[in-house]
Order: sequence, then structure tokens, then C-alpha cells
Amino acid sequence: MVRFDGVSKTFPVGKQTVVAVENVSLTIEQGEIFAIIGYSGAGKSTLVRLINGLERVTSGTVTVDGVDVTALSESKLRPVRSGIGMIFQQFNLFRSRTVAGNVAYPLKVAGWPREKRAARVAELLEFVGLGERARSYPDQLSGGQKQRVGIARALATSPKLLLADESTSALDPETTQEVLRLLQKVNRELGVTVVVITHEMDVVRSIADRVAVLDRGRVVEQDTVFEVFSNPKTETARRFVGTVIRDRPTSGDLTRLRANHSGRLVTAQVREGGRVGAILAGAAELGVSFEIVYGGISALQDRSFGSLTLELQGPDAGIDTLLLRLREHTDVEEVAA
Ligand SMILES: Nc1ncnc2c1ncn2[C@@H]1O[C@H](COP(=O)(O)OP(=O)(O)O)[C@@H](O)[C@H]1O
Ligand SMILES: [Mg+2]
Repeated sequence: MVRFDGVSKTFPVGKQTVVAVENVSLTIEQGEIFAIIGYSGAGKSTLVRLINGLERVTSGTVTVDGVDVTALSESKLRPVRSGIGMIFQQFNLFRSRTVAGNVAYPLKVAGWPREKRAARVAELLEFVGLGERARSYPDQLSGGQKQRVGIARALATSPKLLLADESTSALDPETTQEVLRLLQKVNRELGVTVVVITHEMDVVRSIADRVAVLDRGRVVEQDTVFEVFSNPKTETARRFVGTVIRDRPTSGDLTRLRANHSGRLVTAQVREGGRVGAILAGAAELGVSFEIVYGGISALQDRSFGSLTLELQGPDAGIDTLLLRLREHTDVEEVAA
């Protein structure tokens, strides 16, 4: 649905050049929910604006639904843009128009006749659960309702692709989940490909199929959400995962554990279908006993993963053999004594 090939985008700022996006290559498949996560200033908004041609690449190509948008003139971009819906953090609704008026706006721009517009607006408001609020004004709605209007408006002309730039960042956690469930419904029931831009790993965990981690303009990791959560490969990804999954002891936890436990401490990564339990069951034969002192197992995309920190006691040779067996199957880190 969307392909970036070696895309860079720089902005001249005075005599300096700011690199917002650097050599990004990624593919967003039709029908998936793809998340792009990064800290503020990582280049996320620039990246989405390159998809709908609101920004032009400095180098590389962006292909949307088979069309190389980097080669198009402004007038040829217009039909491409009409196939892309977008929602925003601050909703960007017209305060002077009713809910129905806001949703009808893109239809009006696209030249739909009045009679057809009304039916389409009613259908859209029903879909987002605001059938009763057609005559309300945005100021009379909660944040979650405003974003529902934003989603209805974005879907008005039946786009194949929906771009959501920090679309839940102004909402409380509960409302965030409601809006995310609606985006999931948009994806599943209407088959719309959804690109979610966020700085919150919880959003990624809640709805995305795959995720790209953006760090200072570069994609440093790109994989299924399960893979990134259960086996983050970069420090940036580990930090994002650490904001929602707290299965690994912090350095403060380790100091406390060290003070309270005299045995060897190891942290083992656990994944569904792994052999950690079976291997630990053989510890006694090696003269080794173990105690679980920290950890947690979570589930994601119907598979479990997590990590366990163990205190191992017994002869060093036995412990070393046990660690060797574990390391054949999973990552194990020993905490320095
Ligand atoms: N129009 C612009 N002019 C100059 N610098 C810009 C412009 N747009 C974005 N930038 C810079 O590019 C970088 C990435 O910005 P942005 O894409 O907004 O990041 P994010 O959405 O991840 O917070 C930042 O350093 C930002 O200051
Ligand atoms: Mg942004």
C-alpha cells in the first residue's frame, strides 16, 4: 500500500540543514495496521506528510497504492490525496459547523450532490457511534467524540488508507482505547490500511500488526509487534518496550535483589513454545536449586512472552551447565555479583 525506498527529507533552517528523515525504506502492506513509533522530533509527522505529498522528498521515492507520488505534480497529487484519510491529535474540526457539517465537508469538496451527502453522513455517523449527535457542535463533544467525528470525516470519501498522526495523544487512557477499538473496526470491517503514528508503546501494543521504530530520522527496527516486544534489538526499542512491559528488573531492583540474595542471579527471556520451564525442571539433577525473584509473562497477538530473574544456588559447574542449556534456547543475562 505504501513503500518508502531510501527516502530522506531535509529542511533548510537558516544556514543549517535539519535532517528530519534519513534513508528510510519500509513497506506497509494493504490491510494491515502499521505503527510508527518514535520520540518527539524523530521525524514521524514528516514521514506521514511524505505519504500524502504534503511534504516532498529530498531524495528517494514514496509509492502509494502503486503510484510514485514523488514524481507527481500538485494537480496530479489531488486524486491520490482523496484516497487517503487523515486524523490528527487536535482533531482539526470546524467549530462553526455541526458534526454532520464537518463530516459532509470532504463530500462537498469532492462535488457530491446534497441528497447523497446526507445519506452518506448518516451512515458514517452511525458507523462511529455518533448517530445521535449529528446536530451538535464540536465544543459540545468530549475529546473521544471529537476524534470519532474526525474519523467519520476522514472516511467520508472511502479512502483505502488512513493516516493517524498522534490521534490519541490528547485523550485519557480509557478514551484512547475506545478510539483505538474504532480504528480496529475501520481496519477490519472496511479493509482500510491504517498507519498509526505515536510516541506511546501502549498504542502500538493495543492495535498494530507491525511497527517501525524511528530514531532521529532513521528506522532502527521494523518487525511484527510481537517480535519487537518480545525481542527488542536496539536500545531505543528496549526503552519503548520498557514503558509498558516491566518484566526486567531495573538497576535499582537489581541492587535490592543483590543485597537480599546470595546465589547467582540470572535473567532469562521466556517465549511461548520455549523450553525454559523444561530446562529448569532438570536443575535438581545438576545439584542446582532455583528461586524466581523477579519477572512477568505477558501476552501479545495471542502469544506469551516475558522474562524471569532467577536466583541459582549450588555448585558453579552445575549452574554453568544449566546456563549453557538455557542459552541454547533463549537469551540469558547473568547479573554481576
Ligand atoms: N517545516 C519544517 N521546517 C524545519 N524543520 C522541520 C520542519 N518540519 C519538521 N522539522 C524538523 O524535523 C524534525 C522532525 O520533525 P517531525 O517530523 O515533526 O517529528 P515528530 O513528528 O516525530 O515529532 C524535527 O527536528 C523538526 O524540528
Ligand atoms: Mg509529530
